[in-house]
Amino acid sequence: MLNFEFYNPTKIIFGAETVARLADLVPAKARVLILYGGSSAKKNGTLDEVKAALGTRVLQEFGGIEPNPGYETLMPAIEQVRREKIDFLLAVGGGSVIDGTKLVAAAVKFDGDPWEILLKHGKNVNEAIPFGTVLTLPATGSEMNSGAVITRKEMQAKLAFLSPRVFPQFSILDPTKTSTLPPRQIANGVADAFVHVVEQYLTYPAQGLVQDRFAEGLLQTLIEVGPKALSMVEDYDTRANLMWVAALALNGLIGAGVPQDWATHMIGHELTALYGIDHARTLAIVLPSLLKVQRGHKRAKLLQYAERVWQIKQGDADQRIDEAIRCTGQFFEDLGIKTRLSDYELGRDAIEKIVAQLEAHGMTALGEHRNISLDISRTILEGAL
Ligand code: NZQ
Ligand code: ZN
Repeated sequence: MLNFEFYNPTKIIFGAETVARLADLVPAKARVLILYGGSSAKKNGTLDEVKAALGTRVLQEFGGIEPNPGYETLMPAIEQVRREKIDFLLAVGGGSVIDGTKLVAAAVKFDGDPWEILLKHGKNVNEAIPFGTVLTLPATGSEMNSGAVITRKEMQAKLAFLSPRVFPQFSILDPTKTSTLPPRQIANGVADAFVHVVEQYLTYPAQGLVQDRFAEGLLQTLIEVGPKALSMVEDYDTRANLMWVAALALNGLIGAGVPQDWATHMIGHELTALYGIDHARTLAIVLPSLLKVQRGHKRAKLLQYAERVWQIKQGDADQRIDEAIRCTGQFFEDLGIKTRLSDYELGRDAIEKIVAQLEAHGMTALGEHRNISLDISRTILEGAL
């Protein structure tokens, strides 16, 4: 096992009817800015419930944070926090709202151009104002981690930053708040969480026995509850399990002490930045092809994945690997997520643009062995045509 430090200070309040807990989680004298997305939190009543729970505290709102939160969109929120002397942020939404809130929290205390935070991937963040979250979409794990991904449209750049200063202080995970999600977002959430686990698990053996078993358990849970959640039959336990598995998929626990890949995410971010494809869909395009191209480097773990996650025991080693990769792609397709670039009307021209953006963003040595060069990224994308 590799050496590691593990730190996760986010308090999780999990269960139905837990939004009311905001009354004691947010400091009584706080001046609060509630950040939210387009319209879902307003329409389904979550925003009103949040405001009611916050009672007589000074409250302001900042709505309109879009999927793949825009840097340009968030700049006025930073102004508002400074101008109105806000000292606590509350994100109400999915990964985009939470990620946007993380940037605001860090940027308010940052001396200089906030874009520098993204360019330095958060290494220059020394302070942030405190915030909590009310999660409405299980997918990214942002509710329990220290990462955020921000898009700057004018540059077609989608960059991530990480800082221990931007762990949420608390996150309220009320599974009933996910009942208004459309199938597309449920499917996206299942696929995103699945790939988060895969990127921390499907690398090379590192004797992380408990990390492997946790990861395999999370993958099997996603395979079990994903289709149920999508069937839209209202079932609290399905929603609860999906919400918890997505948080555990990217809260640092399964990745501690083991190698990590993240190439699928880095290539996927370029696809979203250039073509606006939903985050999870980009992962479903890239991952099966990446596994094929990297199968030699990932051979031992692919065999373990085949046997323990998909129960594939027939055939020789290569056949079992083929079948595991096929099952992975089929899992996404069964969720209703297309896995080929051509399904999104993209061809060879797009591949050259994606590779150029990878180069511009320094993504020239990806993967757990840092051996995914631009040429290999191109091969991966060609395999996904
Ligand atoms: O904007 P509204 O109207 O609220 O609608 C949202 C949005 O259109 C809707 N939605 C959310 N909760 C809902 C709901 N609709 C009905 N009922 C509800 N309860 O869902 C749409 C998508 O929301 P979004 O927040 O964009 O989705 P998601 O949670 O999948 O977040 C995706 C973003 O997170 C980043 C992605 O790159 C992407 O920008 N990621 C963040 C990570 C992190 N911080 O650790 C890791 C991930 O790998 C990922 O990169
Ligand atoms: Zn993701």
